[in-house]
Amino acid sequence: MSQRDAFTSTFGVLVATLGSAVGLGNIWKFPYLTGTNGGAGFLLVYLLATLLVGLPVMIAEIMLGRTARANAVSTLAQLAPRQPLWQSIGYMGLLAAVLILAFYTEVAGWVFAYIVKALRGQLQFTDPHSAAAAFGALVGSPWQALLWQWLVLAFTGGIIMLGVSKGIEAVTKRLMPLLFLLLFLLCVRSLTLPGAMAGLAFLLQPDFGKITTSVVLTALGLAFFKLSIGMGTMITYGSYFRDEQNIPATALRVMLADLSVSLLAGVAIFPAVFAFGFAPSAGPSLVFMTIPAVFYSMPGGSLFMTLFFVLTAIAATGAILSILEVPVAMLTERLGWHRRKATLVTLFTIALLGVPAALSHGVTAGWKLFGLNPFELFDFISSNILLPLGGILIALFAGWVYGLPKLRDALSNHGQLQNTRIIGLLYLLTRYVAPLLVAVILLKGLNVF
Ligand code: PFF
Repeated sequence: MSQRDAFTSTFGVLVATLGSAVGLGNIWKFPYLTGTNGGAGFLLVYLLATLLVGLPVMIAEIMLGRTARANAVSTLAQLAPRQPLWQSIGYMGLLAAVLILAFYTEVAGWVFAYIVKALRGQLQFTDPHSAAAAFGALVGSPWQALLWQWLVLAFTGGIIMLGVSKGIEAVTKRLMPLLFLLLFLLCVRSLTLPGAMAGLAFLLQPDFGKITTSVVLTALGLAFFKLSIGMGTMITYGSYFRDEQNIPATALRVMLADLSVSLLAGVAIFPAVFAFGFAPSAGPSLVFMTIPAVFYSMPGGSLFMTLFFVLTAIAATGAILSILEVPVAMLTERLGWHRRKATLVTLFTIALLGVPAALSHGVTAGWKLFGLNPFELFDFISSNILLPLGGILIALFAGWVYGLPKLRDALSNHGQLQNTRIIGLLYLLTRYVAPLLVAVILLKGLNVF
């Protein structure tokens, strides 16, 4: 996407936005966080956070971006020229983008590596011991961890510099249904394994005693991460939205589709976790251990497994491109840099920060701050602090500075859409509910009071 390009069709907008939302968040992060945070209770809080905070903030971001038609910093500069402090949303987003990419590209690297492992028949197991050994061999080797991450950086950088991001959108559009189908197949296999019901119960029967303040903060952070909000990605994407696009309806569809992918991944994974005797609280390795086991226990498994990791890699690539768009759009539009230079500088920064993140399962495992290794720390700071903070500011800006008349005008496409009631509700959510709720969760979750 070049600087002031725009999406060319209503459906294209939907697909591109979905391409940003759907990624490792659904297939890797959602299942592992659900596993480490106690299952169904976490899922419930995550759903509430998505509805009450995620959706309104997403709509607000897209709306602001489309109004200003600029990157995150310039959008705020344009909409509040005399209040430069609001631009901090954009700068915080820049920091969040770099931190997220430092660990996200590492996990994407694992996915790429698993494609090769699947092709070579190295993922043929159903027992936790072999699964842990295969994963450990990859992440425990510093060179493998680094090289796969650099491969991902080179790959996504290449796509941007060749200007073929549109191509990736076209590919995503065609392959997303296939990913859906494959996940569905996995669900069927997983649910028919002996002992599967314990996994389903884990996912669907909440144990309210397990919902602590830190669980709530994590669920909120996931809601932001999932919808690519709180850091200006959706402001940037909104700036490419068409004038006649129905923003609330598009955001709702993206949220529902995104949620379905996560839920399918959850149903594919947890029954198998219990059936094969994995630990639901395994952490970031959960998916990489469980998914091969499910595939291995079905006919034609190796082929499907390879395909699955290819599709996951493509989904991850779409998300990475959208995160990269934040710094790249900002550097080109604010500093007048050429797109190529902006991309290279961004990638180089991520590669540097990515080193300690990539080595977190080996060399830097002991480098702890607040009890977190670099990989966990980057995730915590971005997902659980910066994105919620960005979300509060965006909601406050939309609800109090931008205000109801403009909000009504923007979201109804100058009165063309009959959605006054929805807008009224969104206004209440962005003005009061979202900022208050997020502020309380953030302060409580961080033990400030
Ligand atoms: N939403 C993506 C996922 O769930 O994988 C990750 C992501 C993309 C986060 C874009 C933030 C962002 F700006």
